[in-house]
Amino acid sequence: MIAFNNRKESIQFRFPKGFWWGSAVSATQIEGAADKDGKGKNIWDYWYEQEPNRFFNGVGPEKTSQFYDRFREDIQLMKEIGHNSFRFSISWSRMFPDGKSINRKGIDFYNQVIDELILHGIEPFVNLYHFDMPLELQKMGGWANREVVNAYVQYAKTCFAQFGDRVKKWFTHNEPIVPVEGGYLYDFHYPNEVDFGKAVQVAYHMMLSSASAIKEYKELGQDGKIGIILNLTPSYPRSHHPADLQASKIADAFFNRSFLDPSITGEFPQELVQILDEEGYRPEMEDGDLDRIEQNTVDFLGINYYQPRRVKAKEYMPNPDAPFMPECFFDHYVMPGRKMNPYRGWEIYEKGIYDILINLKENYGNIECFISENGMGVEGEERFRDKNGTIQDDYRIEFIQEHLKWVHKAIQEGCNVKGYHLWTFMDNWSWTNAYKNRYGLVSVNLDKDSERSIKKSGYWFKSLSENNGF
Ligand code: BG6
Repeated sequence: MIAFNNRKESIQFRFPKGFWWGSAVSATQIEGAADKDGKGKNIWDYWYEQEPNRFFNGVGPEKTSQFYDRFREDIQLMKEIGHNSFRFSISWSRMFPDGKSINRKGIDFYNQVIDELILHGIEPFVNLYHFDMPLELQKMGGWANREVVNAYVQYAKTCFAQFGDRVKKWFTHNEPIVPVEGGYLYDFHYPNEVDFGKAVQVAYHMMLSSASAIKEYKELGQDGKIGIILNLTPSYPRSHHPADLQASKIADAFFNRSFLDPSITGEFPQELVQILDEEGYRPEMEDGDLDRIEQNTVDFLGINYYQPRRVKAKEYMPNPDAPFMPECFFDHYVMPGRKMNPYRGWEIYEKGIYDILINLKENYGNIECFISENGMGVEGEERFRDKNGTIQDDYRIEFIQEHLKWVHKAIQEGCNVKGYHLWTFMDNWSWTNAYKNRYGLVSVNLDKDSERSIKKSGYWFKSLSENNGF
């Protein structure tokens, strides 16, 4: 075991008392047992059956980290590396295999996970939707169909009723913009459509589903909090030229404010509404919807931050025959000299996390928030395993530290930040990227029956949590 000499008096960045230290995962990415104990298929099980070669190395969601069968061992490891909180998602298709009728064994499984976490002094943070639409509901049109919003509300109510006595931190969605982008604009999630109008309808229904679940939760009077988790990608213009500034503002409205504003303020951003109206893409709504969204805003916010978005004004007129896209209003821009993660092609810009927090403080009533995902993906991480079997991931420790310094500064300046969860606890399967990029504090050796071993960063995380700083 690696011991970090992190003496209390040498802590330079100390976090507020009770700070949430932990990590996040999602059901499809870790559970496995895709057809065990009555679980129904979701869109990932189905899409993999249809097109296995769309997945990195042809590896599908059945080959996950086996959390379903090994959760006790994993929760023990969480304890060992200093978690006081942990976010997981419930698999909708494990709870409601056909989208409508309930599976008692699904309830049993999550009851056991929740109880085991609490037994180990780890607070469960539970998310209801992380990209995994039950197949039977997708056959009805998925989020494009308003009936699916009703099915989701039933599912949410069941979860509150079954688990709400012990779960006090709930989330309606993780990164709702991603299924919109992946499934209906850019072809990286099932159903792989490119249809701006449908994307808008899907986004609208997801937002409505979030407000509807919040309404149900509030009516139950359980003494917990409910929020949403958004991937915020601060939008930086290439220059201060008004055209670049305007392009960046529109990108921000599409990719950040589309969910951020209604979730916190109850209102959609005017810039976006105007574009949708002008271009003829206003979604179908029913009377009372906007009131429901306005009256059921979140108690707190989870922020997933990986990388910024760099934007410039459009240099060419969009092709009139090409499908309508957000990119009709801006171009992406590669900033010269930007810092890159050498092991996964994403920019690293630590200050982005601070800019997000300051924006929340200044423009969103300083809502209570926490970092719900941040992390460093590494392709081919096995090469960093030393002769004792430990992955020497100093780059990950540095990545976390550099981001935490900015979180710390934001807190010093009055931002209402309650915790930091890393993506992720253990290496896991990730959508079409499968096992390409490893993010865990714990490694999972796929060649050795998914054997777990704590990485250097895991031991470091323990000292971080115990010292409440570094
Ligand atoms: C996050 C998602 O945005 O990115 C996770 O919430 C995902 O589900 C993570 O695994 C990393 O993505 P990737 O493609 O690098 O594995």
